[in-house]
Amino acid sequence: MTSSRDFFHSRIGFVLAAAGSAIGLGNIWGFPTQAANNGGGAFLFVYLIVTILLALPALYAEVYLGNQAQKNPVSALQEACKDSMPSVGKYAGIIGLCGAVMMLSFYTIVAGWMLAHALSPLFELLGFIDISTWLSTSSTARNIVFTPIFAILGTAIIHQGVNAGIEKWSARLMPLLLVMLIGLIIYILQQPGASEGVQVYLIPDFAQVTDPKLIISAMGQAFFSLSIGVGGMMVYGSYMKKDKDIGKLVLSIATLDTCIAFLAGLLIIPALYVAQHAGLEVFRDNKLIGEGQLIFNILPELFSSMGSIGLFVACGFFSLLSIAALTSTISSIEVPVSYLVEDKKKTRVKATWLVSVIVLIASYTIIAFFDTLFGLIIQLLTTILQPLSCLFYFIVVGWIWKRGNKLVDESLQKNKLPLKVLGNYLRYVCPILLSIVFVNVAILN
Ligand code: PHE
Repeated sequence: MTSSRDFFHSRIGFVLAAAGSAIGLGNIWGFPTQAANNGGGAFLFVYLIVTILLALPALYAEVYLGNQAQKNPVSALQEACKDSMPSVGKYAGIIGLCGAVMMLSFYTIVAGWMLAHALSPLFELLGFIDISTWLSTSSTARNIVFTPIFAILGTAIIHQGVNAGIEKWSARLMPLLLVMLIGLIIYILQQPGASEGVQVYLIPDFAQVTDPKLIISAMGQAFFSLSIGVGGMMVYGSYMKKDKDIGKLVLSIATLDTCIAFLAGLLIIPALYVAQHAGLEVFRDNKLIGEGQLIFNILPELFSSMGSIGLFVACGFFSLLSIAALTSTISSIEVPVSYLVEDKKKTRVKATWLVSVIVLIASYTIIAFFDTLFGLIIQLLTTILQPLSCLFYFIVVGWIWKRGNKLVDESLQKNKLPLKVLGNYLRYVCPILLSIVFVNVAILN
């Protein structure tokens, strides 16, 4: 039955695709914005802790569930829960699927902004100043044009199946993004005002680290950044041949993803202070002005300070971001598509187009009610749906699956101590930690 499924050609194929899913707008747009809004260093500090204690084990659980089942997320969860509550598993899978659509609905909008910003310097170079200004200014019209372009790009790639394009693309483009980030950091750190930004980013104010709002934001950001809780990593796990040692793979994905987020912060937060130093109003009452849109003012400002080379840098940087966003989009589209193909017997082509139409309707609804819906959907997804899904994964792997602790069982068979420790950690510590964060937020809100 599984022979009709697509597979990654190698472990490295899985790592690249999963890293491609993880590294995206969450790292370069989401993380620095959240860090700037939540006290800089304090956010970074809590983010790192939450990633190690919760997000990394959740990523393990998600990939493991998919890898063992070799099925799409809905069937995988249904099967894992089959002894005691198969329909709960199935509905959890479907909720994850809705999460993937929610993610796509706003992600394609922001990715469209990146694409527009990548094209803007090109038009400037060609002398079409009006078009260039239109492209770099946020507007509903621009959203209406660019959101579908992005969605269609993702759909066109995913048509061909998972491993055709993704493995190769990610391998070449990720290193380029890394080099570019480092180059830009070196540049920004030499500008007046940058050192204040570096201090804010690297020195945590420990009075803030216990703020429940900060903790839940950091947790949501960590889950979002590692693409967990919507089934994307589960699907990729299922495209890897069974019984590989997932621990190391998962660790390398999380390390890569966290490094990129850290570097993006090291670029953007000092850039905010450089802009402030130059007289721009960046913060009001300790909050970023214009929230998520601000980096689209700050970054072009930074690029234009480089002189004419800045146009090329701007085009390169935003193009790389668009591609990073594309590989993340693909993993999310794959969640409902794999379900429709395997369980609903649709052709891949039909399933892909069906999903894109649904996503487009959702995106246009957000564009129409932008001020109310945009932030709300992001918050619902990252601070409620994703953490709850992860809690469910922990409970399934730790308690429900085969009526016992799946990992501990396996460790006994294979006589592996680390697996046993991990099994118990997932079973006891993770659900409790996650619940504590939730309860605190619910009470204190
Ligand atoms: N992790 C991706 C990013 O950081 C976003 C994503 C979330 C992708 C959920 C897939 C699923 O941009």
